[in-house]
Amino acid sequence: MSIHFDASARVLTLRTASSSYQMQIDELGFLRHLYYGRDTGTADLRHLHRFYDLGFSGNHYEHRLERAPSPDTIPQEYASSGAGDYRVPAVVALTPSGHRGTDWRYVSHEITAGKYALAGLPSAYDNGGECETLTVTLRDAASGLTLRLHYGVFEALDIITRAAELQNDASVPVTLEKAASVCLDLPFGSWDLMHFHGRHCLERQPERLKLPHGVVSVGSERGMSSHQHNPFVILCDHAATEDAGDCIGLMLVYSGSFRCEIERSQTDSVRAVLGVSPLDFSWTLQPGETFTAPEVLLSCAEGLTRLSQQYHRFLRRNICRGRHHLARRPVLVNSWEAAYFDISADRLLALAREAKDVGAELFVLDDGWFRGRKDDNAGLGDWFENKEKLPHGLGDLVSRITALGLQFGIWIEPEMVNENSDLYRAHPDWALTVPGRTPIMARNQLVLDMSRADVRDYLFDTLSALLREHDISYVKWDMNRSLSDVFSKALPAARQGEVLHRYVLGVYDLLERLTSAFPDVLFEGCAGGGGRFDAGMLCYVPQIWLSDDTDPIERLKIQRGTSFGYPMSAMGAHVSASPNHQTGRTTPMETRAVVAMAGAFGYELDLTKLSPEEKDAIRAQIRRFRADEDVVQNGLYYRLTDETNTWFTAWQTVSEDQSRSIVSLVVQNVEPYKSAPHLRLKGLDPDAVYEIEEDNIAVSGAALMYAGYTMARMLGDYPAAQLHLKKKEGESQ
Ligand code: GLA
Repeated sequence: MSIHFDASARVLTLRTASSSYQMQIDELGFLRHLYYGRDTGTADLRHLHRFYDLGFSGNHYEHRLERAPSPDTIPQEYASSGAGDYRVPAVVALTPSGHRGTDWRYVSHEITAGKYALAGLPSAYDNGGECETLTVTLRDAASGLTLRLHYGVFEALDIITRAAELQNDASVPVTLEKAASVCLDLPFGSWDLMHFHGRHCLERQPERLKLPHGVVSVGSERGMSSHQHNPFVILCDHAATEDAGDCIGLMLVYSGSFRCEIERSQTDSVRAVLGVSPLDFSWTLQPGETFTAPEVLLSCAEGLTRLSQQYHRFLRRNICRGRHHLARRPVLVNSWEAAYFDISADRLLALAREAKDVGAELFVLDDGWFRGRKDDNAGLGDWFENKEKLPHGLGDLVSRITALGLQFGIWIEPEMVNENSDLYRAHPDWALTVPGRTPIMARNQLVLDMSRADVRDYLFDTLSALLREHDISYVKWDMNRSLSDVFSKALPAARQGEVLHRYVLGVYDLLERLTSAFPDVLFEGCAGGGGRFDAGMLCYVPQIWLSDDTDPIERLKIQRGTSFGYPMSAMGAHVSASPNHQTGRTTPMETRAVVAMAGAFGYELDLTKLSPEEKDAIRAQIRRFRADEDVVQNGLYYRLTDETNTWFTAWQTVSEDQSRSIVSLVVQNVEPYKSAPHLRLKGLDPDAVYEIEEDNIAVSGAALMYAGYTMARMLGDYPAAQLHLKKKEGESQ
């Protein structure tokens, strides 16, 4: 049993393999948070808290005589505004009286086998017997709102999922102005915040800060999770390292505007509130209606590495779905950086022949193939073949490419429309624009109103026809601008605050319908690279194009930052041309391959321009990737260097049974009078002996981890090296 209720103390404990989470129903019916951290068993931890009166913080009416505790000192599971807790609230609800506060009191709880589901939202799933659910129901008498807090305990996987549902049980409407997914109070400790910021072409850069007093807030108001901030944060002990110290992760399973607020209070307690962004949000619940806040994945571990590994495993097994999520992925060749919009059947066929010749398995026709798409000013919305570029039709191209023995993949950007398209000419009201105002344009395109069922039906019908009529094995689902002018012509004025969230629900609905109707198709996500790289999208697409920057030296930073929360199997990674198209930097083919082989691997350059030697190198790389991919995609991932190492970046993956390991290293800045790079390896069996293929030497796991290994000297422009380690059967140290 991973959920335990101590009826006399009214204490609920959730336990995973290495963590405990505890809460208490107090004498007034408030759901207090007691603890989240390393496993302490089911022992009642009420002794942790001594409550007292805090000046200018008030007391509950029932405590007015003893004047303690102050609500402002009580750790809460889902805090409200306006009721004596002056820290960041999880919920703000406007009742017809005009008051916005709520006062949640316990009604009941229920423990059930399996995982709860969330209506209309993607969420984690149970592969069978992995999860137990706790649902606590609370009620606010004044507003008539009922709150259901769900906790999914994945014991062996060390993950606790949380979600909140708010139901209007009053006879009048209630408007939610904020409805976060999670409120997590950490009453003790000295916490740092790690968050992942960035921009287009440099996503998910870790930043770690000691929490100041007040509120630190990160988030996105762009209608997408965004390049700028990722809906994943880590709270870690100020002294925490990769290998030690308390680390708690909060990952939102959501792809739209979000906000994460972290408050360090006057008493140094820390509160994290994470959920849909309250800016431009309001959601009116008619009597009987329910609002469901997206799920959050909580995980707790000793050290950042272990925390990352827990998320990697969980996202791969319990978030990504469908036939492809654990299967080997095809090595692909993508046409974008090879040809951009300059495509013709002959050029694509020539590229596909080369792709086949070097051993790739999937050919992806990127942007530019559909009606009216001469450049990026026209055509979005018209998902029909372009007879000017493909005079014999798309079907002819697909059958000629599949006849080569390759799978065929295609690029789409369903959520967008160009003014210069038949779709926009027929349905200008389907675009998000504000009546009477010229809209903000981005890449000269507008965003379709995905909150509308008629828009989604059009897209489902058109894209289904495309996938039905052609032998398409892979779809790259792109999204190339942030939302603005968020106004739906299908909703009344009072409900415009729902559009941003309804947009995301609409995207999920379309993804759900298409991925269910075409379960054999591998979908890859993309948003100008990694602008929507989140656990919500990963419920539908097992891989996401990591970044529009394909320079391997830049990718080292992006892959490393992304690895804190997301598995390598989810990171679309391609070898591109040198000099690189984004940075102009020249790098060796081997370096580009070593970096791309850490993810969902492919090529994105004009193969027809390569020399026979370069093609031989690619053949060998694809064979190497195939031999290594099980370890890379499914093994445990270790960051061997941190951002203070400006000389080189190194990482390692180890198979779960510790029999194989691959170490990769790339030099970013050659430093001539330094010695050769030295690494301490991780995750090996200390008692085993490992053969290192490249150096033809056998060394014990203990020596490799505790003393380390010195690589051959690495000079020149951005050199890279890999080590393949194999446990020697029957030998131990
Ligand atoms: C985005 C993607 C690229 C490519 C282009 C096509 O920028 O991230 O990979 O597909 O769109 O327009």
